[in-house]
Amino acid sequence: MISQAVAAAADGVPLTDEFLADVLRGLSAAPKTLPCKYLYDAAGSQLFDQICALPEYYVTRAEIAILRRHGREIAGCVGNSCTIIEYGSGNGRKVRLLLKHLQPPLAYVPVDIAREQLHCSARALAEEHPYLEVHPLCGDFTGPLSLPPNGALFSRRVVYFPGSTIGNFTPQEALRLLRQTAELCGPDGGLLLAADLRKDPRVIDAAYNDRQGVTAAFNLNLLTRMNRELGADFDVDKFWHHAFYDPRPGRVEMHLVSRTDQRVLVSGHRFDFRAGESICTEHSYKQNLADLCELASSAGFVVQQVWRDPLNYVCMLYLATGS
Ligand code: TRP
Repeated sequence: MISQAVAAAADGVPLTDEFLADVLRGLSAAPKTLPCKYLYDAAGSQLFDQICALPEYYVTRAEIAILRRHGREIAGCVGNSCTIIEYGSGNGRKVRLLLKHLQPPLAYVPVDIAREQLHCSARALAEEHPYLEVHPLCGDFTGPLSLPPNGALFSRRVVYFPGSTIGNFTPQEALRLLRQTAELCGPDGGLLLAADLRKDPRVIDAAYNDRQGVTAAFNLNLLTRMNRELGADFDVDKFWHHAFYDPRPGRVEMHLVSRTDQRVLVSGHRFDFRAGESICTEHSYKQNLADLCELASSAGFVVQQVWRDPLNYVCMLYLATGS
């Protein structure tokens, strides 16, 4: 079952003003930066699905390997009769592997910024699981979530945060988000968290610099999106994709680098680029398991279980809020 009426109400906020404000702020900053959530428009979401299938991008495969191998045990931690809230649900492929091991009744709240993909995958999931109450929310999961009133869904809440998306936040932002999540879950709730671990830098580097250029297309699509939605005049050919792993902070930085000195207009505002100057479009922190467990504890969670894939590339944690 899909609760379209409530979902439509939570879904009515136009994002364009916020997008423009974030872009103007980010391009005025030194160095220039843009929030990575804007990479996911309809085209960006399709490109991201292609990234997930690339031979170099191990993150998705490793998470799926954990869900395949330990699905039953993971589902045992999540438990039945709860509301599963998924941060950044994307195409919904992973949650299916979890739902397979759970019994109805259950409610599922996918939260994603990519509207078309969200509604499309929510509808498909509801059709495949007739007894699942599906309530999609379009928006940024770091903001306040307009969940249906208490009683409409199950009061026990478990957040599923896949994709190693936690790595796209700085350690301070990650702590804030986990604290907020612990509050959202309330007593007896939990957080199922997937995170990318530190490993051979060459493996990480390759994952963000695939040979087919899909990641480059995904990154450059942000310029096309600003042209279309904000009336900007970026010449996409005058920028190139640059991603590299810096082992000291343990993070990937992704940039759009200007090939020449140039001036760009965004909704009437002028921005100058020097040749070689870049816009940082994403950070992807790779975690150390002990630090991650400490972060979870500081946020108010109890680490209940840890799973890893056979290559030790990613980990999945079940974090409980306690009663
Ligand atoms: N959360 C994903 C990650 O950090 C997102 C991602 C994967 C990504 N590949 C990307 C974001 C390439 C931008 C560019 O791995």
